[in-house]
Amino acid sequence: MAIRVWLLPSLLVPLTVLALSSGVAAQCQVGIAAPPTEPERPNHHPIGRSLPLAADFRQPDGCTDAFWFFDDDRDGKPDRAETRVFGPDRQVICASCHDAMPPADSAVATQTYLRRDPATLCLTCHAL
Ligand code: HEC
Ligand code: HEC
Repeated sequence: MAIRVWLLPSLLVPLTVLALSSGVAAQCQVGIAAPPTEPERPNHHPIGRSLPLAADFRQPDGCTDAFWFFDDDRDGKPDRAETRVFGPDRQVICASCHDAMPPADSAVATQTYLRRDPATLCLTCHAL
């Protein structure tokens, strides 16, 4: 499992990992392509875009075989409340922000299915 491969050296040599922290995500191996997703919605966040390796984007620090995640609680595991990007090319899809698809458009659906509060969601990926 890719997570363990990543975790083990980080426990054994925390100083090295600290020194290489910008390279930690690069050790992840995500082999599975991003899954099919619903069509992009008008007036909604774009999907199918790759997370740029750029200063105005934060970089995910954990991964599974299928996606990358922002390991906010540092437990090495992808929690429901942690934003994700999918596939080797780190695409934003619906499941990056939603942990299930709302059955219908409704205010309740937005409360229930977002991975994070809208106030902090954007800043998991965007660094302003
Ligand atoms: C970058 C994060 C993000 C992505 C990606 C994203 N959403 Fe959302 N979505 C939100 C946020 C935040 C809200 C609540 C605020 C709002 O209504 O815009 C929301 C609300 C919704 C809602 C309920 C309100 C509405 O606008 O109808 C639906 C349904 C929904 N999203 C579906 C989708 C689908 C389908 C996709 C993929 C095609 C998607 N979302 C991709 C962040 C995202
Ligand atoms: C999962 C990571 C992620 C999250 C969470 C996220 N974004 Fe983005 N956002 C991206 C990526 C990746 C792009 C595309 C960047 C590119 O193509 O250069 C993008 C692009 C955008 C754009 C430009 C759209 C365009 O048409 O070019 C806006 C505006 C934006 N995001 C706003 C938001 C807001 C507001 C939120 C919170 C509701 C949010 N983002 C949450 C990753 C994310």
